[in-house]
Amino acid sequence: MKGLILSGGAGTRLRPITHTRAKQLVPIANKPILFYGIEDMAAADIHDIGIIIAPGTGDEIREAVGDGSRFGVEVTWILQDQPLGLAHCVLIARDFLGDDDFVMYLGDNMLEQGLRGFVERFERSRTHTLSPTLDGPRLAIPSAQILLAKVDDPRAFGVAEIGDDDEVVQLIEKPEDPPSDLALVGIYLFDASIHDAVAAIDPSPRGELEITDAIQWLIDDGRRVCHEVLEGWWIDTGKKDPLLECNRLVLDKLHRSVEGEVDDRSHVEGRVVVEPGAKLVNSTVRGPAVIGAGSVITDSHIGPYSSIAVDCVVTDSEIDNSVVLRRATINGIPRLTDSLVGRDTEIMRGNSRPRATRVMIGDHCNIEIE
Ligand code: DAU
Repeated sequence: MKGLILSGGAGTRLRPITHTRAKQLVPIANKPILFYGIEDMAAADIHDIGIIIAPGTGDEIREAVGDGSRFGVEVTWILQDQPLGLAHCVLIARDFLGDDDFVMYLGDNMLEQGLRGFVERFERSRTHTLSPTLDGPRLAIPSAQILLAKVDDPRAFGVAEIGDDDEVVQLIEKPEDPPSDLALVGIYLFDASIHDAVAAIDPSPRGELEITDAIQWLIDDGRRVCHEVLEGWWIDTGKKDPLLECNRLVLDKLHRSVEGEVDDRSHVEGRVVVEPGAKLVNSTVRGPAVIGAGSVITDSHIGPYSSIAVDCVVTDSEIDNSVVLRRATINGIPRLTDSLVGRDTEIMRGNSRPRATRVMIGDHCNIEIE
């Protein structure tokens, strides 16, 4: 079993952060989203991993992941020149994948449940020969296995319709009128027949080769596609609010570890990580929260569900339910909440007259003033 992680794409929904940075490297609890996927694969004994990267952000991803040895995996890099769709990724990974079964993992998805059980059930169902079903040529050995999750608004996802016999009958990408509330989670298991499918389908109206259409092609070709409904949470982190939600869910499992410097006027309450080299001066951190190495928090309150990355400077401010990326400076902000703050950003209260809000904001930003 091989792994294919999709870490290319345009990342338009997380702009402006993704103008300069791969969305898969945005940190959740101070660890890039992509790393959770790689660790998940290693934990499921998948050590041969291909990672799809895009020209603009690929170098940064390669640098962050390295050769994979620190995760116990071997990485093959596959450059996708243009974001032509998830099925296009399978098409260009053909040499790497060969005829092996593989798990395809969208690099911006995170799920609570590990991959191991999902992979084991697929392998088991493929090694136990079952008798063919009565209703035609459909083979009982599955060619693919998909993971589904109930969602409130399925229109933003691929959606599955399950028949009375509990088999997948139909898959549609981002339908206006969804046939069910079962969204396709970005984790799929395939055998080599998916290569015929991705070669046979046409681009969708949005100009992409959709993996949803490729799986539908397998069904129409008489192949069996198994499904499981997810237990535990799953988040497509591609937008700010789901990303903050994911940060909360991961921080909820944090183990306390205070290795940084905490002066005697500071308090650390609950499940808090203060990384080595971080410094708290006359400040309170109420968990779950993480303060990255080299960050200095002075005269401030860091509230629950905050992830402050490395080398940030927070002074005379209050922050909660927020993700702050590396080297950000936050000074004199009484309450910063529900926020995603990019790298090398400065937010401060100025003293110049006339008193006013003065900004230099990049494209596609979103600012809500109190
Ligand atoms: O999150 C689950 C959903 O993911 C599924 O329900 C949908 O059926 C599936 O199409 C997909 O929808 P998205 O619109 O959310 O996919 P997105 O464009 O965000 O891409 C997912 C990941 O794949 C992301 O890490 C970027 C990467 N990617 C995407 C494209 C289009 C590539 O590496 N190459 C690409 O060409």
